Amino acid sequence: MKKTILSGMRPTGNLHLGNLYGALSNWIELQKEDYNRFYFVADWHALTTGFKDSKEIPDNSIEMVADWLSFGLDEKKSTLFVQSLVKEHAELFLLLSMATPVGWLERVPSYKDQIAQLGKDKTSNYGFLGYPVLMAVDIIIYKAHLVPVGIDQVAHLEFTREIVRHFNSNVGKDIFIEPQPLLTQSAKILGLDGRKMSKSYGNAIYLSDTKEETEKKLKVMFTDPRRKRRTDPGVAEECGIFMLHKIFTEKNKQDEIKHACSKAEIGCVECKKILSKNLNDALEPIRQKRQELINKKDDIRDILSEGSKKASKYAKNTLEEVRDAIFSSKRIV
Ligand code: TRP
Repeated sequence: MKKTILSGMRPTGNLHLGNLYGALSNWIELQKEDYNRFYFVADWHALTTGFKDSKEIPDNSIEMVADWLSFGLDEKKSTLFVQSLVKEHAELFLLLSMATPVGWLERVPSYKDQIAQLGKDKTSNYGFLGYPVLMAVDIIIYKAHLVPVGIDQVAHLEFTREIVRHFNSNVGKDIFIEPQPLLTQSAKILGLDGRKMSKSYGNAIYLSDTKEETEKKLKVMFTDPRRKRRTDPGVAEECGIFMLHKIFTEKNKQDEIKHACSKAEIGCVECKKILSKNLNDALEPIRQKRQELINKKDDIRDILSEGSKKASKYAKNTLEEVRDAIFSSKRIV
């Protein structure tokens, strides 16, 4: 039997190079292998920390899926759906909530981290505490075996596995499968300020940026601080610009740049110019495709609508099994 892969993203805005060459390129790579694939817009998840910005979610979702499709995710190879269009996620979330000890949720590492990062205002709601249960539901409702995620999500996968064991043993039936994280190494991508590229740091380059905007951003991007003057040698491996060369520049040229940087034979301005050209050359066809898609948003809606219907069939089957297991196949009416 084919294994099932599932992953999701929150629709919090346009995707940047970190998202594209991190998570998304892995999703696309997995299209080459023989799997059942589900990729979804985690719109309810976006509410757990962003209820005040809820009105932006529909547009953000369409924009995000335009990024997915233009970057190479193929709706014929993967089922693309929207979490909130498959209501069974909500029912299973409710049922599993009854079987999840609150202490487990409070001990999930991201719980305290996120409160510290985002503040009480965004994280004091009850849904935020329950977020790992919702994530577990997203996965197990499709009986997914493998979940491509970043390292930050591994604790949530472990939590999912715990819920599965707990639930299965409670109902005395192996309804759910314990999913495994699929940790694919992804390129390290720094933002304009030298920190990790992230929307919340305001240091990102987006696929939706124009060629000119991208050039401008690269011009001010942080380089190796050793190179205060043009004559100071640098260490390419520690420079955010070189990390991008590793994605966009051919290997020979990369080696040349690395060497020249270590001897101060090339300046940061020139090095950035080379990157600018290569990066824009690579992104231009993707940007064009993105623009075409954005002009046909109804096509994106159709894809998501079809995908959500397909996903619903799986989810409905699982819920039948779950209800039978919990209520011993009896019905009140
Ligand atoms: N929690 C993930 C994130 O914040 C998104 C997500 C929600 C997800 N449900 C999922 C990822 C299920 C993988 C599987 O990035």
